[in-house]
Amino acid sequence: MPKDKVAENVAHRGGRFWAPENTLVAFGKSLDIGVDGLELDVQRCASGELVVIHDELVNRTSNGVGLVETITFDELKRLDAGSWWHEEYEDAGETNYKGEKIPLLQDVLELVAGRAWINIELKNTPIEYPGIEDELIELLSDYEHRDKIIVSSFDHKLMYSLKEKNAGLSIALLADALLLNVAQLAEQIGADYWHPCFGSLRQEAVEEAHEAGLKVNAWTINSPREWTMALDWGIDGVITDNPYGYKMFLEKRTLIAEAKAKS
Ligand code: G3P
Ligand code: MG
Repeated sequence: MPKDKVAENVAHRGGRFWAPENTLVAFGKSLDIGVDGLELDVQRCASGELVVIHDELVNRTSNGVGLVETITFDELKRLDAGSWWHEEYEDAGETNYKGEKIPLLQDVLELVAGRAWINIELKNTPIEYPGIEDELIELLSDYEHRDKIIVSSFDHKLMYSLKEKNAGLSIALLADALLLNVAQLAEQIGADYWHPCFGSLRQEAVEEAHEAGLKVNAWTINSPREWTMALDWGIDGVITDNPYGYKMFLEKRTLIAEAKAKS
């Protein structure tokens, strides 16, 4: 990728620096500023629905207690997934997200409706959700914007199973280590994308992935220093908790480049 190509803006967990993570309000705010992509995490609740929440427990991001797999969606709906964020992030100003809910994956798909691509990260460790890949395939079977979905998981066995089902969904190789042979691993699970941890990445690994035909979307890149590195390295997508900050950073960078070109 040429170095002047700007890495896409991808809101990690919907952009958790400016709204409670993995909620409809977070996804909506990021869509409003025109992000290219959204990353979200999926677990399965006791009544079988795929829900958007990072942890296997509801404790950290709601006023409830317990494992997602033991709570029905009727019960999950009654939890407040917004107040904790306001309490934790004191710079949230007057904004109060009390009353935000843990959403269904279906609700996020409907909200996004093709306005951005979505990285659906299936959580399948340490709690295993047998058959979750089949349920995702079924849920996406009549989704109009299937071409804007990238599925990933730290559970590569799950991704291998997804590949074997030939569902026509794009897959990303998700990993938090600098891999020995990224091309080989990606091929094994049928991935066209590599989603590495930025803290375990180096420029030559990005180049190696590009040579193998992979696109590289790295997480979680939150500071101007790291955004500059990501752009210098030719990373394709910046998965960030701060999509608004990254957008402002890019705009400022463009203004500086234009001013330099004129002088
Ligand atoms: O999918 C990228 C990133 O979200 C992986 O880590 O723990 O934030 O889901 P985590
Ligand atoms: Mg994630």
